[in-house]
Amino acid sequence: RTYTIAVIPGDGIGIEVMPPALRCLEAAATRFGFTLIFRHFEWASCTYYLKYGKMLPDDWKSLLKTCDAIFFGAVGDPARVPDHVSLWGSLLRFRREFDQFVNIRPCRLMPGVSSPLTGRAPGSIDFFTVRENTEGEYSSIGGKIFEGTGRETVIQNTVFTRTGVDRVVRYAFELARSRPAKKLTSATKSNGISITMPYWDERVAEIAKEYPDVEVEKYHIDILCAHFVQRPHTFDVVVGSNLFGDILSDLGPACTGTIGIAPSANLNPTSKRTDEDWMPSLFEPVHGSAPDIAGKGIANPVGMIWAGQMMLEHFGEKDAAKALLTAIENVLGGAKAKVQQGGEDVLTPDMGGKGSTEVLGRAIESVLSSA
Ligand code: NAI
Ligand code: MG
Repeated sequence: RTYTIAVIPGDGIGIEVMPPALRCLEAAATRFGFTLIFRHFEWASCTYYLKYGKMLPDDWKSLLKTCDAIFFGAVGDPARVPDHVSLWGSLLRFRREFDQFVNIRPCRLMPGVSSPLTGRAPGSIDFFTVRENTEGEYSSIGGKIFEGTGRETVIQNTVFTRTGVDRVVRYAFELARSRPAKKLTSATKSNGISITMPYWDERVAEIAKEYPDVEVEKYHIDILCAHFVQRPHTFDVVVGSNLFGDILSDLGPACTGTIGIAPSANLNPTSKRTDEDWMPSLFEPVHGSAPDIAGKGIANPVGMIWAGQMMLEHFGEKDAAKALLTAIENVLGGAKAKVQQGGEDVLTPDMGGKGSTEVLGRAIESVLSSA
């Protein structure tokens, strides 16, 4: 088994967390007997933009199509390039043009991570948010009329297509079915948004008939946010439209500690490598380029490493994916004990330690290799 990966570090700490993540992936490949080919690209970064006046080369699409997946760091250098230029010119183009219609994020309480919700055992919070990633509230259809007058009016339409809703909801049901709890929660707001949201509910109810083994519940987005904070351990798979999913997919990981450890996948689950119009999926940490700590070597590499773990899972390398997740858990879980025994402090400062990107990355890599 050989997988070709487009490696795009981007900017800021994206460049710093990429090398430890690649070393962990290499270690997994060596241990489990598959081959990874890394194709490194320096574009989709503000450095490239400042040099060439554009975020991407003209042939970016054909270059990425030669790969099985895209492994992306973070983009953004807000002091020199406006965020809408850097983000819309790179990441958002990948998501849209490769029709990556599902965004998933695991929300899992890791050992050794202090969560705002104290008193819960590691692993007791363990769910996924599934966000519709291509349409819905983020349609860019609309406009402004009577500008500058007292009647100034702005309108932006929400677009739900049956295809668009069905495919993400079906993905969420499949994910729920594959997990022990087999439970799906749908985010709605049909009491206030009276046309599109009842339609969303209707499609969820319709597709639920195909999954009698999956328990289904729905909540309005406002109370669902409250439940995320107050009883996150009761969720399994949570699906939402583009806007609701956006909110939940930041709130979920936030409920389980630092955003420096959270990963994310932008998937096109239906495209096949053999298709003429192959559209690869993209794996990235949740965090951005963190200009405030860039260059200091203290960024938490776990978000990037965990994103790599999701990529291995996506390739079907289940054993390798499981081993990498276990290595992350063991290092984070054992870190405090290690310091107490007079050993090296491997945790990065965002987790209350004195470690570095390099040290934490090496610790995970060596646990993975030596198992
Ligand atoms: P950010 O995620 O870069 O940083 C937010 C805060 O979290 C900062 O205090 C940062 O130091 C901390 N943080 C983030 N990741 C960390 C890690 N791995 N280890 C330790 N601490 C970490 O978000 P912010 O500041 O809003 O955006 C900075 C730039 O990143 C902007 O240009 C923004 O557009 C871009 N951005 C890019 C994303 C992407 O490429 N997917 C996502 C979010 C933001
Ligand atoms: Mg967001």
